[in-house]
Amino acid sequence: MFKKNLNVGMVGYGFMGRTHSNAFRKVSNFFENEHQPVLKAICGRSEANTRAFADTWGYESIETDWPKLVERKDIDVIDICTPNDSHMEIAIAAAQAGKMIMCEKPLALDTAQGEKMVAAVEGAKVLNTVWYNYRRIPAVTMAKQLIDEGRLGRIFHYRANFLQDWTISADLPQGGAGLWRLDAAAAGSGVTGDLLAHCIDTAIWLNGSLNGVSGMTETFIKERRHTVTGKVEKVNIDDACAFLARFQNGSLGLFESTRYARGHKALYTFEINGEHASIKWDLHDLHRLDWFDHRDESKLRGWKSIHITDGDQPYMKNWWVPGLQIGYEHSFVHHVADFLANLAGNKSTSPTFREALETTRVCDAVLASAKSNQWQEVGR
Ligand SMILES: NC(=O)c1ccc[n+]([C@@H]2O[C@H](COP(=O)([O-])OP(=O)(O)OC[C@H]3O[C@@H](n4cnc5c(N)ncnc54)[C@H](O)[C@@H]3O)[C@@H](O)[C@H]2O)c1
Repeated sequence: MFKKNLNVGMVGYGFMGRTHSNAFRKVSNFFENEHQPVLKAICGRSEANTRAFADTWGYESIETDWPKLVERKDIDVIDICTPNDSHMEIAIAAAQAGKMIMCEKPLALDTAQGEKMVAAVEGAKVLNTVWYNYRRIPAVTMAKQLIDEGRLGRIFHYRANFLQDWTISADLPQGGAGLWRLDAAAAGSGVTGDLLAHCIDTAIWLNGSLNGVSGMTETFIKERRHTVTGKVEKVNIDDACAFLARFQNGSLGLFESTRYARGHKALYTFEINGEHASIKWDLHDLHRLDWFDHRDESKLRGWKSIHITDGDQPYMKNWWVPGLQIGYEHSFVHHVADFLANLAGNKSTSPTFREALETTRVCDAVLASAKSNQWQEVGR
């Protein structure tokens, strides 16, 4: 099949720059689409580092100033892989230049920024998506299918955790390369926007909108040296956050995230309890979906651990043979595959900017509730 090129211009060559570049390179080997991504240009601030990244990943050219990339006529899609404080500016400029946009999560620093971004992409009518990639891990996609088929019945509970332990040392500085997540000016918030945003996006997708929340946050290490200023400065991010929620469908939610859970590196788990059945998923065992069905014969009833590797399970027919699992990086390949499939029909890929704004609204409500010690309705 003759393929049309989709010329990619990526901004930022860190962790996500690598996962996305890998996905753009692999997708057409495994998924059949009209378009084929071409790694046209990578943009970073240091010329030497950007050049080295371009050589490693096969980008045709480099830029060291993102507005120049956005203006280039040979770029179709701008992929935003920079820290959260630059998403809005780059996305609005890209929309005004008529580019499609794939933006990393969280959409923005806060709801006000997110609303401007939604207005920009919808006003310019450019295709858009936000990389909430966990939706496209086959086991998570299958959880969505099982829920949509009504197999759980009425849902009572949604429980999610995202636990890490990498900021426990008080000697860890804040700000600058790699540590921007500890600096509220660059990140917007701490674990709420960084980790809980993933849990909230998955929850909205699987279980519908959240109406209201009651949250608490803590900053365990109150001051850290800032790598840019060299001074010891107040830490303004949340190190840990837990919140209760009520979903529109009447179910109750319980969410927790921290970077102070010694022993946990990236323990993202969720559990959903319905009238007939329950589902559990764990990022550390991401190719498995745990399933309990009360309608099974009672003497055989119990939790099943389903190995999601078969051709009739989401995305898996495009990979190896039944029994052989895939991993984290494939969720990004699936995101690009879906983006390309939707591009053929001139449709944005879920979560769109508008859908991802809902997650940002929930994050803001959680932070507002933690600040006021009050129940907080989620804005619409
Ligand atoms: N989907 C996920 O699971 C996931 C995982 C990690 C990070 N993220 C998100 O991806 C984004 C990037 O995170 P990361 O972990 O890749 O960060 P990172 O620190 O590894 O990389 C950020 C990159 O942006 C570059 N950069 C910063 N400002 C720039 C500018 N003005 N112009 C050009 N380049 C600039 C940096 O040099 C670096 O290459 C964040 O929004 C983060 O929340 C998402």
